[in-house]
Amino acid sequence: MVRIAGTGHYVPAKVLSNNDLEKMVDTNDEWIIQRTGIKNRRIVEDEVTSDLATKAGQKALEAAGMKPEDIDLIILGTSTPDYHIPSCAPIVQHKLGCRMIPAFDINSVCTSFMCGLTTAYSMIASGLYKNCLLIGADTYSKILNWKDRNTCVIFGDGAGAVVLVKDDNAGKLLSTDFGSDGSGSDYIKIPVGGVVNPINNFYGYKEEDLFFQMAGKKVYEFTISVVPEAARRMLRQANLTNETIDHVIVHQANVRIIDTISKMVDIDRKKFIVNIEKYGNTSSASIPIALDEAVRHNIIKKGETVMMLGFGGGLSWGGVVFQW
Ligand code: COA
Repeated sequence: MVRIAGTGHYVPAKVLSNNDLEKMVDTNDEWIIQRTGIKNRRIVEDEVTSDLATKAGQKALEAAGMKPEDIDLIILGTSTPDYHIPSCAPIVQHKLGCRMIPAFDINSVCTSFMCGLTTAYSMIASGLYKNCLLIGADTYSKILNWKDRNTCVIFGDGAGAVVLVKDDNAGKLLSTDFGSDGSGSDYIKIPVGGVVNPINNFYGYKEEDLFFQMAGKKVYEFTISVVPEAARRMLRQANLTNETIDHVIVHQANVRIIDTISKMVDIDRKKFIVNIEKYGNTSSASIPIALDEAVRHNIIKKGETVMMLGFGGGLSWGGVVFQW
């Protein structure tokens, strides 16, 4: 079995409020709160994704009572790495001062942390590794189109981390549910910069195609059509019910999505851990940041069950039910 021995998170100091955004694009505080639940988000000034990841990782190590040299595997969930090449995890390995251990990225956009969690769990449960630092970190402020009100009001920067360790007496993955639907791959996208539209041809592109784009309504519909069903399957597989599950952490993309999942799966809204008003959608960082806040406030206690459920680009979704 695999226990989460420590959690941590880091967000940049600079706060960008809805009122600040009113001065940048045609939007208003009331629309943003009503449609998304977001009030503030954090934005980097002179930091990059590997800095956020390193700081969250340090906090998780501290909470676990471990040192960088104790870690034998690093997995970083991110869709905003410092560079396309190299991957970002080795940069974090170096910044943390870890040994020359395996360190790699997982990119499943906002589902990255959940993919990382099952990968890390499996690699430890199989006996291959003992102590894994898993981080979800993203810096969307660097890829957003700050002229596009459909997207720039939604995202924030941040990182969350967990240390997973082998433990025969605690920590149990009770169920998982993952899936993807590439027919919706156009709905969350940066059109330019991959091999279809390579950057070396950049004079031929429209400016907005260099930035993050999202067909919000399509993603909303996809999420509502797959995520509640995934939650129900995970409860069944874990032999739990809507009454007996203790906590739910859904990707902090939109408070209306969280409310709808609570209603559709009939899980008491009070069981949902929600912090979207402070940080916005921090992509792969949103679940581990919410998890860390809940652990530090003693909301999640030993033996309790936690459902974590992410969704986003791909399109994709992924969840686990974990016994703390
Ligand atoms: N401020 C003010 N008005 C805005 C606005 C903003 N920031 N953004 C859009 N609008 C306007 C639109 O132009 C539209 O106006 P119109 O009716 O005159 O055309 C109106 O508000 C409604 O826009 P719409 O896109 O239909 O809003 P919505 O209710 O679908 O909310 C999202 C938009 C993005 C918040 C919502 O679709 C969403 O959360 N989608 C899911 C995103 C997600 O889960 N992502 C996860 C992976 S990252």
